[in-house]
Amino acid sequence: MPTVLITGAGRGLGLEFVRQYAADGWRVLACARDPGAAGLVEIAAKSEGRVTTHALDVGDHAAIEALAGELDGTAIDVLLNVAGTMGADSFASRGMGAQRFGRSDYDDWLQTFRVNVFGPMKMAEAFLPHVAASAGKTIVTLTSVVGSMASNLIGGLYAYRSSKAAANAVMKSMSVDLKRHGIIALPMHPGWAKTDMGGPKAPVEPVESVAGMRRVIAALAPEDAGRFLQYDGTELPW
Ligand SMILES: NC(=O)c1ccc[n+]([C@@H]2O[C@H](COP(=O)([O-])OP(=O)(O)OC[C@H]3O[C@@H](n4cnc5c(N)ncnc54)[C@H](OP(=O)(O)O)[C@@H]3O)[C@@H](O)[C@H]2O)c1
Repeated sequence: MPTVLITGAGRGLGLEFVRQYAADGWRVLACARDPGAAGLVEIAAKSEGRVTTHALDVGDHAAIEALAGELDGTAIDVLLNVAGTMGADSFASRGMGAQRFGRSDYDDWLQTFRVNVFGPMKMAEAFLPHVAASAGKTIVTLTSVVGSMASNLIGGLYAYRSSKAAANAVMKSMSVDLKRHGIIALPMHPGWAKTDMGGPKAPVEPVESVAGMRRVIAALAPEDAGRFLQYDGTELPW
């Protein structure tokens, strides 16, 4: 039975990943700031012990290290960094009017980096032995097409964009560095998905986004390390 560790598992795409991997018979280590989140508890209760919940704020490096220690000896086939934030401003309600030039909140910007950039990096550093010991040897971080330089034609969204561009750079370097462990690391864009973050106008349902990403992850080969892929397998420009 393969094992997946998912951050941000309490709602949105993270919770949908938990639902789908659990339904597929995987062992799921579901990490959330609130492991008592209703949807998560319900799935775990029906899972006959295959889904376990773990309290984890990815901005808290000591907590990441503690969880890695607790799970020492557990092989993790897929490490899935889903936890992410837009910061205090909301794309769902303000669209591209969020995080406009001249209105920067630098403390909030720094917190966005702590979650979106340092979070996946610290998770990979702490859980390297668990992933290296697995058969799957895969690390995926959900970044975003808004982190793409080539696709940025309308500006704005400074904190979120720069954090996702930085997360892309992190995953690219990681893909090179971890090849010697046989690990495939890459960033992935989930599509514009209908979650609290994506908002109600988003065209992609979470079930479709996650099913697509799971298909892409299942088909990954060593040469896919460091590619920037969308949920349907399309390659995105940096
Ligand atoms: N939806 C989209 O259209 C879209 C597009 C591109 C990329 N993405 C990326 O996909 C990922 C999932 O997004 P989503 O749409 O599911 O967003 P969401 O509905 O807003 O959910 C965000 C998730 O991240 C968690 N999170 C935030 N800060 C955290 C922290 N410090 N520690 C641990 N967990 C934390 C949240 O947990 P709490 O419940 O505790 O807040 C929640 O589970 C994010 O990385 C996002 O940037 C989404």
